Amino acid sequence: MALTFALRNADTADIDTPLLGVLLPTGSELPTDLRALDERLGGALTRALTRGDFRGARDETLHFDGAASGAGRVLLVGLGTPTEPSASLRRGASLLARQAHKMGVGTAAVVAPGTDGEAIESIAVGLSMGAWEYIDLKTPPPEAERKKPLARVTIVAEDSRAAKDSLARGEAIAAGYDVARRLAQMPGNLCTPDLLAKTATDIGRRHRLKVTVLGRREMERQKMGSFLCVAQGTPQDPKLVTMEYRKGKRGAAPIVLVGKGLCFDTGGISIKPADRMEFMKFDMCGAAGVLGAMEAIARLRLKVNVIGMFGATTNMPSGIAVKPGDVVISHLGKSIEIINTDAEGRLVLADLLSYARRFKPAAVIDAATLTGACVIALGHTATGVLGTDQPLIDEVLSAAKKAAEPGWQLPLWDDYKELIKSDVADIKNTGGRAGGTITAAMFLREFAEEYPWVHLDIAGTAYSEADLVAIPRGPTGVPTGTFVEFVRGRAG
Ligand code: BES
Ligand code: MN
Ligand code: ZN
Repeated sequence: MALTFALRNADTADIDTPLLGVLLPTGSELPTDLRALDERLGGALTRALTRGDFRGARDETLHFDGAASGAGRVLLVGLGTPTEPSASLRRGASLLARQAHKMGVGTAAVVAPGTDGEAIESIAVGLSMGAWEYIDLKTPPPEAERKKPLARVTIVAEDSRAAKDSLARGEAIAAGYDVARRLAQMPGNLCTPDLLAKTATDIGRRHRLKVTVLGRREMERQKMGSFLCVAQGTPQDPKLVTMEYRKGKRGAAPIVLVGKGLCFDTGGISIKPADRMEFMKFDMCGAAGVLGAMEAIARLRLKVNVIGMFGATTNMPSGIAVKPGDVVISHLGKSIEIINTDAEGRLVLADLLSYARRFKPAAVIDAATLTGACVIALGHTATGVLGTDQPLIDEVLSAAKKAAEPGWQLPLWDDYKELIKSDVADIKNTGGRAGGTITAAMFLREFAEEYPWVHLDIAGTAYSEADLVAIPRGPTGVPTGTFVEFVRGRAG
């Protein structure tokens, strides 16, 4: 259930709430807005700050009994030394919502002293991120044992037009993240190519976007031999979905967002080991990010032309599945030798990138849980960023930073091309273990012609197997925010 928000312009000492969260950066003195609250608490806040019991470090929290004020509890949450205020506010607010959720308070209030109206957007996004859960498939516990999920939050701020707009933007972005994370967390038997396509048509209907869905037959007609060879082992109909949002200048070249949508990746004939294979339900997070971003972009009513595009299928071994050594002809016409059927994402993306040319894009950004090598290189902290156009790469990196989804660039030099040369075809689909993220991107580059292009390898950042401080384990919503910030940066 989505969080609901209210804005309230009142003294923090008088807010009647079971939990008041206070977001503070490193080294704060007691903000003037908290003086009355501090007095009611007998100077406890001042003492905590001057003694250094609370320094405002990132993810630091300190809990007070607030009964002497209107609040049942007061929770200080540290923001660190923000270099990117939107990112640190999102993280702090998310941590606050997680704590509130654990306490079972149902409602809470939050204040970020010294911030402007812009902060409200980030706080709303962060709170929604922290409160998110996927409980559809669990039997609810008996009433007596049930904790109240966090449902309503009051943001203590001036209730102006600008504040309301900022909150609405936060809610729009939060709704986008909800779409992406929900789809990602759904198991592979429920989140099918059909469901992803249906989600796209549903978003399209609500926001009046033109949505086109190609199935196996249509893709055969388009000669998408690369995408189709991945779908060869499954009876499910693969889907190539395009969503057209055109609220920018008439005829202006669109931004094209592309997502890998493997509803499950067994590896195919080059089958994966059983251990932790269940996480391969997350192999559609690129597509989920496209859907989430389109939802958010439409809600934000950004004045810009954007095409969302994804390829959805399931990589399965079977008697008719593609085999190592097979050669297929891609939509662009280049022949590909399949060395490893588990390098399927790049095969799907190759045909999408080639198909994208028809939109005459101003820029194409793809996102894919593409390589285990990216997890080894950058861990779960940074998305791998590679591309053909340095200004575009820089623009994407700064959008990612704003969205608290940091990226890190890896090189895409011609030297690596040797590694994907084939003896029998134009190119082969794997380049060995060394530089796995780069050779995967080198492969994609062969199909990203006629436009500036950036690739996001989100294998390490789209989901987490362990609890993160501000976000519970499971899907993170990456790259929804990066897409949204990039598009917003280009909007008129
Ligand atoms: N979906 C996987 C990549 C992946 C691995 C995502 C771990 C998330 C976590 C991709 O399709 C894959 O299997 N890649 C192979 C490529 C290899 C065969 C060249 C890999 O990374 O091992
Ligand atoms: Mn794979
Ligand atoms: Zn995969």
